[in-house]
Amino acid sequence: MRVLVAGATGVIGRPLVGALRARGHEVTALVRDTAGPPDPDAVVVADALDRDALLSAVSAARPEVVVHQMSALRLLRDDPAGAFAQTARLRTQGTANLVAAAHAAGARRLVAQSIAFAGAPAATPVLDEDAPLYVDAPDPGWAATVRAVADLERQVTATDGGLVLRYGTLYGPGTAYARTGSTAGRVLAGRLPLPGDGTGITSFLHVEDAVGAAVTAVESTTTGILHITDDDPAPAAHWLPHYAHTLGAPPPRRIPAPLSPRLLGWYPTHQLTTAHGASNARARTDLGWKPGRPSWREGLGRE
Ligand SMILES: NC(=O)c1ccc[n+]([C@@H]2O[C@H](COP(=O)([O-])OP(=O)(O)OC[C@H]3O[C@@H](n4cnc5c(N)ncnc54)[C@H](OP(=O)(O)O)[C@@H]3O)[C@@H](O)[C@H]2O)c1
Repeated sequence: MRVLVAGATGVIGRPLVGALRARGHEVTALVRDTAGPPDPDAVVVADALDRDALLSAVSAARPEVVVHQMSALRLLRDDPAGAFAQTARLRTQGTANLVAAAHAAGARRLVAQSIAFAGAPAATPVLDEDAPLYVDAPDPGWAATVRAVADLERQVTATDGGLVLRYGTLYGPGTAYARTGSTAGRVLAGRLPLPGDGTGITSFLHVEDAVGAAVTAVESTTTGILHITDDDPAPAAHWLPHYAHTLGAPPPRRIPAPLSPRLLGWYPTHQLTTAHGASNARARTDLGWKPGRPSWREGLGRE
């Protein structure tokens, strides 16, 4: 199949180009800068926020399937506010431009990346895809992020052949949880303590499984929204000490939960104290996908 990957230089996009080619697909990489494309069959150049440039770049590739793996989260370490604002623009305006470009180019399928950790607080610890999103989160920054996620998901599911893959919290090479990543840096420096009882639940996903799910999605006709997560949703009280131990960091110190927002910020506090996991049951039945790495326990902090 002819596949266009938008975000082809990213943590997921780069290995995805190789994985799709290994399956015999003809892959065009959409990039902003011709320097360093990841060895695709072809390259087209456009900024996804430039609608006209994107329309002509995508049309030139004549894709049957378009994959959206764009974010600006690489900027997180240096400019967190800018990273979230730009990622929200990519999720709203960038997605609108890509949907229009895919349609104009005659693509029959659009597969887009979303996140599996945007659910609102609920009675069950592990959520399915029908659970409401946390669009009214008390933190304005997270509420804006989740509203942009909801907008992306609305646009993609309204498109013929549209499938949203809600990835769990990514770990593995190039991610924030890699040994050289920003979260590892905080743990190694003793700057990621465990608030309260550490009851917030995280569903992790190895980056190789994110790539594998995207390949399966490209080759399937399944539409809708699916959680792509491992089989082992875990409270912070379990994964954070394990992660610190694997990294060779000191065990995380305990802090009273009420101190956490001031010390860590709103989102880390939410992740560690109140967040919910995300079940992959629907991806197993509807997509026929299952994680190659069923538990973060084997690999988190090792690479
Ligand atoms: N589920 C999760 O936990 C999750 C999800 C996403 C990201 N992350 C984290 O965020 C970090 C970055 O990962 P990532 O793969 O999302 O980001 P990334 O590695 O920065 O890749 C994003 C891709 O989007 C492209 N892009 C950005 N703005 C664009 C624009 N205006 N037009 C066209 N393309 C554009 C980038 O191209 P350029 O090379 O031109 O910049 C790049 O190819 C990692 O630490 C990862 O763990 C986590």
